[in-house]
Amino acid sequence: MSRLREFKPKRSKASVDKPWQDEILIERLADDGRGVGKRQGKVVFVDRALPGETVVAKRYRSAKRFDEAECLSVSVPAVERIEPECRHYAQCGGCQLQHLGYASQVRFKQDLFDALLARLDGPVAEAPLLAERFGYRHRLRLAFQAGVLGLRAARSHEVVALECCEISQPALNKAVKALAGQQELLRAMYRGEVDLALGEGGYCHCRIRLEKSPSASLLDRMVSKIPITISEIKHKDNVLYSADVSLQYPSSDTVFRPGDFTQVNPAINAQLLQKVMDWLAPTPDAFILDAFSGLGNFSRELLASGARVLGLEGDAQMVARAREHVVSERITFRCQDLFSDSLELPRDLDAVVLDPPRAGAESLCRALVRQPVERVVYVSCDPSTLERDAKLLQAGGYTLEAACWADMFPQTRHMEAVMLFTRSQG
Ligand SMILES: C[S@@+](CC[C@H](N)C(=O)[O-])C[C@H]1O[C@@H](n2cnc3c(N)ncnc32)[C@H](O)[C@@H]1O
Repeated sequence: MSRLREFKPKRSKASVDKPWQDEILIERLADDGRGVGKRQGKVVFVDRALPGETVVAKRYRSAKRFDEAECLSVSVPAVERIEPECRHYAQCGGCQLQHLGYASQVRFKQDLFDALLARLDGPVAEAPLLAERFGYRHRLRLAFQAGVLGLRAARSHEVVALECCEISQPALNKAVKALAGQQELLRAMYRGEVDLALGEGGYCHCRIRLEKSPSASLLDRMVSKIPITISEIKHKDNVLYSADVSLQYPSSDTVFRPGDFTQVNPAINAQLLQKVMDWLAPTPDAFILDAFSGLGNFSRELLASGARVLGLEGDAQMVARAREHVVSERITFRCQDLFSDSLELPRDLDAVVLDPPRAGAESLCRALVRQPVERVVYVSCDPSTLERDAKLLQAGGYTLEAACWADMFPQTRHMEAVMLFTRSQG
């Protein structure tokens, strides 16, 4: 009788690579913002190093074709190098580009976007959407452990006390300070995460997730002592406490709670909404699909233009929240898995705005090729899945008409891309 062969992973040569520390000359920036150099002929990605610099780097991981290293010191700095604004930059994994002057950050992202457009044989990019470089985030996820509230250190589970997150709005930092002051209570809460969110009018709420089930008295103490409105306390999937409270997204009718997806940068979101509206150019009788609609960020704007709107979203709670406060028969929010291979779109759609998670929207783009619409505006936080999906649309008869990127996340390597595709009917 034949037996199934036992699977034994091969021990890669990479996993036995020796640790090293060495001087590296940085030749260019990788797409993820790291410096790229070579050591003994092998490519090295060095965190927070810039082209033209000589740095002392220390390897922390190896793969077959490359090593990854941290930058211990800079022997020869680049002219674009600046002193990071944030005191936590060295430990925190949240920002990757604070050592690069803002004009150079914009140039770096513009170059990446232009290269993407060139690969797609697309048009010249329109001007990027830019706003504040710091103090923009309206929500933040922190961890707590052993009485310390803060950030998870890069490549570690250690929690580093947070005094101020420079990319977060000042009112959010005030709330962090108030919560961090409750050291004894935090210690009793053992370990977990807090989602903090700021709404219109400067109101701040939080959601707490505990790793260990609390006693009834600890739960009472949390509810009475924590100096920020608590929307929810959870242990794993169990809701232990929930208050009937919600926040209003800045300058909008969208209602949300900490932990919900919202665009992190309200000033850029306002510009993004305007761009989407300009490109979709909805007429009052148009029927528009807002795919991956979340809480209805784009849907509400489309409704205000007089269009009929269908919002499709995979998270049932977000769909329920999106339905709150909408009093129009011209808008419908439905829960649907948009990654399904058998997607069927309504027959009479005129246009689609889609804003998927990082995984992109392959199934939806295939559906849009089967059932073409006149206009598609694709909002993406991941250039690689956008490229894959854009090629699908182009092969299906769509033309990439206009494109730009938005600096939704200054000081980080991330960008938001927006593209308009059109297709002539018939
Ligand atoms: C980038 S957010 C965009 C939300 C919204 N458009 C906005 O501007 O706030 C992506 C959304 O896709 C939803 N999503 C993720 N996977 C999904 C799936 N398989 N089907 C439908 N929606 C999904 C998420 O819950 C999230 O709300």
